[in-house]
Amino acid sequence: EKGGYEHFMLKEIYEQPKAIKDTMGCRISEDGSHVQFEELNWTTEDVTSIGKIMITACGTAYHAGLLAKYFIEKLARIPVEVDIASEYRYRNPLTDSKTLCIVISQSGETIDTLAALKEAKRLGARSLAITNVVGSSISREADQVAYTWAGPEIAVASTKAYTTQLVTLLLLALYMGRLNGTLTADEESRILHDLTAVPDVCRKIFDCADEIKAMCSSFEGKEDVFFIGRSMDYGLAMEGALKLKEISYIHAESYAGGELKHGTLSLIEEGVPVIALATQKDVEEKMISNIKEVKARDAYVIGVVQEGDTEVRKTVDTLITVPASDNFVVPIMAIIPLQLLSYYIAVSRGNDVDKPRNLAKSVTVE
Ligand code: M6R
Repeated sequence: EKGGYEHFMLKEIYEQPKAIKDTMGCRISEDGSHVQFEELNWTTEDVTSIGKIMITACGTAYHAGLLAKYFIEKLARIPVEVDIASEYRYRNPLTDSKTLCIVISQSGETIDTLAALKEAKRLGARSLAITNVVGSSISREADQVAYTWAGPEIAVASTKAYTTQLVTLLLLALYMGRLNGTLTADEESRILHDLTAVPDVCRKIFDCADEIKAMCSSFEGKEDVFFIGRSMDYGLAMEGALKLKEISYIHAESYAGGELKHGTLSLIEEGVPVIALATQKDVEEKMISNIKEVKARDAYVIGVVQEGDTEVRKTVDTLITVPASDNFVVPIMAIIPLQLLSYYIAVSRGNDVDKPRNLAKSVTVE
């Protein structure tokens, strides 16, 4: 049932090209020019009437929500708030009939996410669920559903659910941007061009699996790792750190590059591994300054860059390269090497990768 892979997690990492392709499915017009969300079938009025979008979720799904804020605010110019479901439900949130509540959940059964959805509905919000399980509690509770078509995810650590959530959320942002009149047809087809290439080009990352595996030696005996990034790479840093903590049991922290000076830099000393995500072209120069800050304290820096990078490579100890793509699309690929790295580190530590200690796949109790 593991299809020849040693663990479900590895199988699911390798299933991502197919999962991503299935999730795009017929949501992109045949000529590749625009998004068509038949299951939503929104009108211009449905989008222009949204005052605010409230995204709630837990864990990895929450991290997908953090990227969705960038997607939607930049492409559709609608304000987005993202909150952890267990926080949202108890804070007497400012939600009303002009709010669109988007809940994200692989299983569709997470109790806090379900309760947050019910609370948003009680306050009069419209609701949309993004989930992987047809007929799940969350899919039944929400007004509308957009499914991720990742197929069953067995490993506790979420991989293909996350990348397919990102795909769905990016498609949604493009869809809303067009209906809202904030996105040009050119920009939409340019982003879709790069997105539809992902299932093929992301395979290049698998060609580097041995190199990534070899990087494990830099983590031997290390108990603290830092992930840094700016803009969408900051959201990715959070997901990268969660993956590492969850299965390798190494303490990991994610930091927005610009925040280093406000605290974390004091923790950087010789040999501390820092994974520096520098895939976002518009903030590359700023990231390079942040990398120099940690290098000056003798950190061991692994840079994650787009193919064709010439500048970041000069500043880091070692490099992970992902295929070059649009800024909005590249995070969908850039998480894959981080999933692989966490996986190999966890295996090298002899951990039960698919069932990490103390964790359950689906959290249905508070
Ligand atoms: O099924 P859900 O997407 O609602 O689950 C949410 C979290 O429990 C889940 O993403 C968790 O953080 C993963 N184990 C992370 O890999």
